[in-house]
Amino acid sequence: MRRKREYNQVQIKTSPDRGSPPYRVGRDRHTLERQLYPRMNSPTPEIAVQCPLFDNPDQYLRLRKGSFFVRFLKRKAEERALDSCLRGLDTVRSVCDAPSGPARLFSYWGAKGYRVIGVDLSEPMVEAAAKEHRRLGLQGVVHRGDVFLLSGILEDEPDLVASIRFAYYFDRERRIALMRSLAAASRRYVLVQYKTSDTLKGRIIERRSRTRGRRPAKHYCSFGEMAQEVREAGLVCLRIAPISQFSDRAFVLAEKPQGQGSERDVKGT
Ligand SMILES: C[S@@+](CC[C@H](N)C(=O)[O-])C[C@H]1O[C@@H](n2cnc3c(N)ncnc32)[C@H](O)[C@@H]1O
Repeated sequence: MRRKREYNQVQIKTSPDRGSPPYRVGRDRHTLERQLYPRMNSPTPEIAVQCPLFDNPDQYLRLRKGSFFVRFLKRKAEERALDSCLRGLDTVRSVCDAPSGPARLFSYWGAKGYRVIGVDLSEPMVEAAAKEHRRLGLQGVVHRGDVFLLSGILEDEPDLVASIRFAYYFDRERRIALMRSLAAASRRYVLVQYKTSDTLKGRIIERRSRTRGRRPAKHYCSFGEMAQEVREAGLVCLRIAPISQFSDRAFVLAEKPQGQGSERDVKGT
């Protein structure tokens, strides 16, 4: 019991210049999320109707990271899954991270040698991402705009358009619309992160929600459902890479149909 309570707690400290904290250390994670992102609350509280605009980059990053050890493990697992999704895509030179939030993944894209284009609808997130973009000395630019209208925002077509920690806020119809928008903006590849019920953690969350008689706060899909959605968005599903059995997240790599002669680019699939 004690273990479980500790697991549910997050250690968040405020920086000295932020004045008195709006929340305290050791509060339940979901309460904390509701406080950080009040617009996430929907009239039916058990399900978020859409992704909120996040307006505090520092708090977002602190909540994402957790303790040093957890942060290290999560980051490594995420990067491993991304690596396995992207392996062999030798022609990729540029990525659009949409939405980029405060540039959490820019260092990862930069380490791959990609030109990085960030897009977010929230002004504070765009400012934070642009600052990080400059700090890392990346090629590319950060735009403010709606990812559902992505091709109208970008000046050229990046080889890969990636949407991480976003699609699962939306229902099936909107997720497909999102993928269509990402595909319209991409020269070739689309990468989307889902929440999945096909890992150990995903199954536990689904079962727990069922026994409590409520739906999970985000939308969960099986691997089969993800592949079907990709097809309905007019794309070819190349890979599905769950982060691990202890995560409920999975990456889906898809390709636009005109690139189906993909043996040239995708090795070792
Ligand atoms: C959970 S964060 C994910 C950020 C980043 N991809 C990551 O992995 O950390 C979701 C971001 O989507 C942004 N957002 C919400 N709706 C959006 C929209 N329609 N167009 C662009 N950005 C949006 C929010 O402001 C927030 O920064």
